[in-house]
Amino acid sequence: MGQWTRKDLIGLEELTREELELILQTAASFKEISTRSVKKVPTLRGKTIVLFFFEPSTRTRASFELAAKRLSADTLSIATSSSAIQKGESLKDTFLNIEAMRVDCIVLRHSSSGVVNALAKCMKPSIINAGDGCHEHPTQGLLDIFTIKEKKGTLSGLRVSIIGDIAHSRVARSNIWALKKLGAEVTVCGPATLLPRDIEKAGVKVTTSLPQALKNADVINILRIQRERQKAGLFPSLREYAIRFGINRDKLDCYAKKDVLIMHPGPINRGIEVTPDVADGKYSVILEQVTNGVAVRMAVLYLVSQAGEEEPEQE
Ligand code: CP
Repeated sequence: MGQWTRKDLIGLEELTREELELILQTAASFKEISTRSVKKVPTLRGKTIVLFFFEPSTRTRASFELAAKRLSADTLSIATSSSAIQKGESLKDTFLNIEAMRVDCIVLRHSSSGVVNALAKCMKPSIINAGDGCHEHPTQGLLDIFTIKEKKGTLSGLRVSIIGDIAHSRVARSNIWALKKLGAEVTVCGPATLLPRDIEKAGVKVTTSLPQALKNADVINILRIQRERQKAGLFPSLREYAIRFGINRDKLDCYAKKDVLIMHPGPINRGIEVTPDVADGKYSVILEQVTNGVAVRMAVLYLVSQAGEEEPEQE
């Protein structure tokens, strides 16, 4: 198994195949802890982890907090609505003050792509990207891939179709970088206005035909329409989107493989990108993704905290 040397986790684009595999293997060894009646190990005892979310979150925030607590770290959640940022304090000053309290790790979600990387370069604590703008959501990509590997045994040669608002999706980007490195074939599908220009350069197939994306896919990862990041007029209406790109039972029966895996990072807009019978159906692993998110985030917290450890002084 490879070695982890990074202080931060900013994105999956920069990780090697060996680093991705190390995170997945570490997550597999941590997964069992959450099945115990006492869900706690002392691995990160004495460490302090700050959760700073500038955008709403249910899954990522809760599972980072649970992951930290299951590793016995102390956690601190800062709500932007009640922080001194509301009084005009800059992001940099805010983080310098948090750093001055000698915390070990900051988990950060922000609406601007690149903010997490910029802070990581000037901060001593480990910085983990919990989603930055349209750039990356590395732990979501990792938990998606962990779930695929758990269900299908391997990523190599697997066909994964990502359907929806690719242009505004940090989840799509993180998935694409890691899936390609681990040997999967990736197809992206959506309305032409929601497909990023030059996305083919990432080594993916691109189509606006849903039947084409569904045929032969081993995994269908359905994305939400990110209305909070879109400019107006990128597609005629949600109703039309649901008709052309929404995944329902009839389309799966007509085009998809019988053992296809249905995934969604959440939150789901039921009836728009996916119907409830598919989201809750027998091929759906959407809640298993959430379960695996805790193990993956335990692995990431553990690895970055190890890398951030200073060498003990020699006698
Ligand atoms: N998948 C995901 O990032 O969900 P949250 O926005 O609830 O964290």
